[in-house]
Amino acid sequence: MSISRRGVLGLIGGGPIIAAGAGAGGFALTRTPEKALAPWSAAGGYSDPRKRALSYAILAPNPHNRQPWLVDLSEKDTVVLYRDKERDLPHTDPDARQLTIGLGCFLELMEIAAGETAHAVDLDLFPQGEDGPVAVARFRDGGQRDALFQQVMSRRTCKEPFDPRPLPVSAVQELSAFSHVITDPARVKELRALTWDAWKTEVYTHRTMKESVDLMRFGKSEINANPDGIDLGGPFLEALMLFGVLSREAQLDENSSGFKEGVRIYHEMLMATPAYAVLTTLGNSRADQIAAGRRWLRLNLTTTALGLALHPVSQALQEFPEMAPHFKKAQRMLAKPGHTVQMLGRLGYGPQVARLPRWPLETRTRNG
Ligand SMILES: Cc1cc2nc3c(=O)[nH]c(=O)nc-3n(C[C@H](O)[C@H](O)[C@H](O)COP(=O)(O)O)c2cc1C
Repeated sequence: MSISRRGVLGLIGGGPIIAAGAGAGGFALTRTPEKALAPWSAAGGYSDPRKRALSYAILAPNPHNRQPWLVDLSEKDTVVLYRDKERDLPHTDPDARQLTIGLGCFLELMEIAAGETAHAVDLDLFPQGEDGPVAVARFRDGGQRDALFQQVMSRRTCKEPFDPRPLPVSAVQELSAFSHVITDPARVKELRALTWDAWKTEVYTHRTMKESVDLMRFGKSEINANPDGIDLGGPFLEALMLFGVLSREAQLDENSSGFKEGVRIYHEMLMATPAYAVLTTLGNSRADQIAAGRRWLRLNLTTTALGLALHPVSQALQEFPEMAPHFKKAQRMLAKPGHTVQMLGRLGYGPQVARLPRWPLETRTRNG
């Protein structure tokens, strides 16, 4: 599960708390976790074309912002990409399917960025099978610019309610190159219900909820120290932490009124969805999952270009036992028999949201 700042406001709820936050004054000016956001400003500032492309690739969307990439640069002109298994999500992503999709987003972004320095990338996926590297990427001259590069710095995941206004037909057509777009009101209604049921299942299953709560970073110093997972920062939330209202323990107490309020707010967000994007694959091999991630990244950059917001809602696609009824329903509703739904995302007009933290490139590379 991912919880937006707005969602967490709900998790702790309450009017008097809002007053306390609003009075925080100059405190606000100092609460941006600049260190955690520095990789966004550092992007592009490398002379080695591999590092330059990688400095953009680390801005890719990825589940729970785990940033599961680890790169070896010892061989000339070559990037060897590994999945960092210490960043696995054993409860919500037991087969590492979503993490692999995130690595597909990373590879696509790397290739798009390499085109900016006229480098092409030859990819060899899983050359030693599943337990070896995810990809060996060889950089060579000859790449071309990709128009989607212009969207890389503006791309976000938008975890907010969307406007009810429908998507223009032209946008649906453009996005249909990457995914199946669902706008039919009856199907949208069914999907809202499915995503809600699935979300509740994740949140009320203790070990899957705990996996998310363990990844929450409370306040600027925690976010700067661990720029990944679910960041809870900014002056308002930090004021609540100072008052002892927002804590890891409270996030796990489903009987607290704050938790219940959070559930209400998440419901409101999931219901405020005018359309969905669905990405399926014929098989479900690691290569299929990488291909799905590459497509999702292009979809996300295209939504950015169109002024649209995109928000993956992955709960119904997760492979843990309690989710099985929703999983089966999602596959039945969204994929042809035998195909696999890899991504399901809310689609619509949403507000501008902030950049999320990243680990610096240097912490994710070896021998460079
Ligand atoms: C495979 C995959 C699954 C994801 N699932 C969810 C999800 O279920 N809920 C959610 O809020 N965000 C989900 N996300 C989005 C990530 O939380 C987001 O990419 C990450 O926090 C980084 O934020 P950014 O995309 O704004 O840079 C998913 C992303 C990927 C690639």
